[in-house]
Amino acid sequence: MDPIAVIATKRDGAELSTVQIREMVAAYTAGDVAPEQMSSLLMAIVLNGMGRREIADWTAAMIDSGVRLDLSGLRTVDKHSTGGVGDKITLPLTPLVASYGLAVPQLSGRGLGHTGGTLDKLESIPGWRADLGVDEMRAQLHGVGAVVCAATADLAPADRKLYALRDVTGTVACIPLIASSIMSKKIAEGTGALVLDVKVGSGAFMKSYDEARELAQTMVELGDDAGMDTRALLTDMSTPLGRTAGNAVEVVESLEVLAGGGPSDVVELTLALAREMLDAGGLDDVDPAENLRNGRAMDTWRAMVVAQGGDPDADLPVPGHTHVLTAGRSGVLSSLDALAVGEAARLLGAGRSRPGEPVSYAAGVTWHAGVGDDVRAGAPLFTLSFDDEARLNAAAARLADAALIGEAAEPAGSRVLGRV
Ligand code: URA
Repeated sequence: MDPIAVIATKRDGAELSTVQIREMVAAYTAGDVAPEQMSSLLMAIVLNGMGRREIADWTAAMIDSGVRLDLSGLRTVDKHSTGGVGDKITLPLTPLVASYGLAVPQLSGRGLGHTGGTLDKLESIPGWRADLGVDEMRAQLHGVGAVVCAATADLAPADRKLYALRDVTGTVACIPLIASSIMSKKIAEGTGALVLDVKVGSGAFMKSYDEARELAQTMVELGDDAGMDTRALLTDMSTPLGRTAGNAVEVVESLEVLAGGGPSDVVELTLALAREMLDAGGLDDVDPAENLRNGRAMDTWRAMVVAQGGDPDADLPVPGHTHVLTAGRSGVLSSLDALAVGEAARLLGAGRSRPGEPVSYAAGVTWHAGVGDDVRAGAPLFTLSFDDEARLNAAAARLADAALIGEAAEPAGSRVLGRV
């Protein structure tokens, strides 16, 4: 294979052949194609796109770069979110769905940029371990039903290497590349069914509904072609979810949901995704709200945390410092920018600027009003939690224009905007 000829094919707007895709991805993973050649091909793909057959071939090439997990013998259903701010849904959702007897293998990631990472949030629980071997993960799925852990290095390693390159070459924002990246990991994971939460809005990768719908459609087709029952909800990420963004603060909010309370939008989205997952797992006649009310979802949460070495009764990390930002005027909170809140949480230490950086588990942002709520001049609007005092000013500056206070607000609609 001549990498230059492959690059030229896509540069000139033609389709890549199955062989070209397979050989290029394999050679790059093996270190036989230079990063500058692969980044050139990636940019040509960003500019000229890929057709359905090419996307399927690209996905297959990434799956074939590693192992496929064998989860046969279990009724598995997984959820994947394209990432947002305050998106703690995996925490209540995984034990909730597992409490109905389905197995939920939730291979999750760490935060990068303004979006939080499920593993970082759970690691704020003393003792909790994200790195499980495949046998441990399978045993936990049989015993508890719910597992949230890091993907092993041999699951779609080509995607890992390509994603790192895309991250530094401006080639992340591309529907064919995002869809194949996400679905290669999910298909290799071996789940029987998958529900995708595709976020739309300022705090999401996809800023417009049409783009998000195209991404959702592409992923559902890839999943269905792989024999996996795949559905997607399109959900609003123009305002952050719930009332907190960070690590331990989001665990606390998730526990409120598992205890039958919690912010209404987090509850709404948890239940909407749970209904889809239960339906995909063959349980279309149960009301998932029931196991939030009767404590069964909380019991499964506790078993899941214990199975991964965590202490569900331990105190969570508390911040060294807090700082309150108050409302500058009285009125109605008419908008709250998800991107600004996510970036402020990262600047406080809850997330990373570079892969591998340590995070502060106690850092985060809490907002005291939601869109549509009345606010009074001088009343607390945000509480910033942090360990490193040097981080305060930048985070506070990022929040300066995040909340708009006006005379009125559109009534808060449903978080669920559409379905594929
Ligand atoms: N998440 C992924 O796993 N891959 C992408 O390309 C984008 C988001």
